[in-house]
Amino acid sequence: MSKASPTDLRDIRSEIERLRNEIRNHDYRYYVLANPAISDFDYDRMMQALVELESKHPELITPDSPTQRVGGRPTREFRQVRHSVPMLSLSNTYSEEDLRDFDRRVKTLLGGEKYEYVSELKFDGVALRLVYENGLLILAATRGDGESGDDITANVKTIRMIPLHLTLNGDLSKYSNVEVRGEVYMDRDGFQKMNREREEQGEKTFANARNATAGTLKLQDPKEVARRPLRFVSYYLFSSDVQLKAQWENLNVLRKLGLPVSQHIRLCKNIDEVIENTHGWESDRDSLPYEIDGSVVKVNSVRQQDALGTVARSPRWAIAYKFAARQANTILKGITLQVGRIGTVTPVAELEPVLLAGSTISRATLHNEDYIRERDIRVGDTVVVEKSGDVIPAIVSAVTEKRPAGTNPFKFPHRCPVCGGPIYRLEGEAAYYCENYECPAQVRGRIEHFASRRAMDIEGMGESVVDQLVGIGLMKSVADIYELHEHRDELENLERWGKKSVDNLLKAIEQSKSRLFSKLLFGTGIRHVGERTAQLLAGHFQSMDRLMGASVEDLQFVSDIGPTIAESVHHFFSDKRNRELVERFRSAGLRFEEGATRKEGKLSGQTFVLTGSLARLTRDEAREIILSLGGKVTESVSKNTSCVVVGEKPGSKYERALALKVNTMNEDEFLKLVGRSK
Ligand code: IVH
Repeated sequence: MSKASPTDLRDIRSEIERLRNEIRNHDYRYYVLANPAISDFDYDRMMQALVELESKHPELITPDSPTQRVGGRPTREFRQVRHSVPMLSLSNTYSEEDLRDFDRRVKTLLGGEKYEYVSELKFDGVALRLVYENGLLILAATRGDGESGDDITANVKTIRMIPLHLTLNGDLSKYSNVEVRGEVYMDRDGFQKMNREREEQGEKTFANARNATAGTLKLQDPKEVARRPLRFVSYYLFSSDVQLKAQWENLNVLRKLGLPVSQHIRLCKNIDEVIENTHGWESDRDSLPYEIDGSVVKVNSVRQQDALGTVARSPRWAIAYKFAARQANTILKGITLQVGRIGTVTPVAELEPVLLAGSTISRATLHNEDYIRERDIRVGDTVVVEKSGDVIPAIVSAVTEKRPAGTNPFKFPHRCPVCGGPIYRLEGEAAYYCENYECPAQVRGRIEHFASRRAMDIEGMGESVVDQLVGIGLMKSVADIYELHEHRDELENLERWGKKSVDNLLKAIEQSKSRLFSKLLFGTGIRHVGERTAQLLAGHFQSMDRLMGASVEDLQFVSDIGPTIAESVHHFFSDKRNRELVERFRSAGLRFEEGATRKEGKLSGQTFVLTGSLARLTRDEAREIILSLGGKVTESVSKNTSCVVVGEKPGSKYERALALKVNTMNEDEFLKLVGRSK
């Protein structure tokens, strides 16, 4: 590499700065304002240009460069940091009366002065302290015990909503040394998607978004943190350089400095307005895309805040109003067992119906045997049932004081409630399994899953049809779907059926035969093989026969496939019944090859990877097109990938393509290549 001359260097430096500023600006628009100005594709090109320039001139890399967000190395242990100003917590109140009491205290202490309040949402996440020095983020710490916490700077730098350096234009320059406090959280969609993916991968799921956030911030590897959907909202500004006037203004300053601030803040003239706003959010909380557990009311003026001061670790100028917990007490009438498609036996609480957050609850999950034993939950007990916004109702505990005489600890049955066969518990697992593959509950579950939209998409084969056909013994196995046409007369004579509906069902079954191999694989219902894993496997092995012949080591060779999935797939295909099932699929004419039957075409010999969402095609359609032209589609980018097609919000595959210098194209370019442009 030739050395750059000083003038070149100056140009390079200013080009680097220009790119960084543009990227920061787009990060802000995208993550904070949720109003992007350019496509993800163009954004990524900019990032790529910056990465290239910086890799040629590592001496110009600064810690606040957008390329440095995932720069941290895994750590063994977090450094402890002392908080320069203690991180206080708020006292809690639970009623309108408590809020009025708070207001009376404020009024008395301020001795007749006028005052205003700011009413805010109470985000249900994890408190975070950010320190900016000369405009640069130099420290991020957890609350810990309020006096000192963990230095989690490397993890926090991966959260793109948090600026690595502040916007300090004009008047704002006086805020170059500030401390910001706020909350890290996950929104419901991000949390649920992450949990689904974890389930597919056989990893433990999180009970709620707050636990997931806390767990994520404690991870030792920033790269893993970067993959989790963390968000941030700031609600407190502190500076020893500037005389701050009011919370309302501070929130505005935070926003101008480039930090995310909630849209749902309100300046209130009196406690009545605060109460009205608070009640409003209590009933509308489900309309927010994230969880809140209450609201916070703060005296607006900073001078008055200082006058009111702090007692016992809580400020006297602010208070949290906690929404009523979405819990209720009711009687546990019985515990039944539910059997899922892979035989998992889940205990379900049968409850005396109770009204909770607007709906009547009569069943709730009890998770597993250990859960019941640890909490000593007994039939006949009064139990606490809880509904949090993002999970199904669950039993939290038993109210032992109300326990009637004559109850017994729950004994987990050892027989399946559906087929009567034995159930067993694997070592190290919490769940029981019914080991009878032909157990009607499992058969029903497997067929429903196979026919579902995300798998083989057989219209008309929903829950009630499956129930009916399994119930009369017409289907005992998933493969029986493809022999239903031999029972046309029987079907037509069934209750609720006629010629037309039978025709439609048989037609839908016939159409499902052309679904992609990856769909068939997902639909087959192998434990730990979710949609994404099915695509990874189909992409790598390309055919059922190669997949069936793969050893545990071969399977683990696929990137992102760990030992749990590898063992599970291998175990599945070593079972004679499953191999028979596969042979019946083959005779029915289902697709066993990821590539289409037409092997030669314009894209022969080329391997594609798709990332991000496309505007004019679904992922499946894009795959179909590539396959029909003789190309291959794989899930992971390697040096052998010919091209990565990049849609909106692409994932890590795109970063990998850039790192490996693999050719990329956007949707328009792709459509042109395959002859589908308008
Ligand atoms: S103000 C002195 N505002 O609730 C300032 N806290 O104990 C103290 N929280 O630890 C915090 N939303 O983690 C404030 N809008 C908000 C908040 C909020 C959530 C959390 C924060 C704090 C806890 C209260």
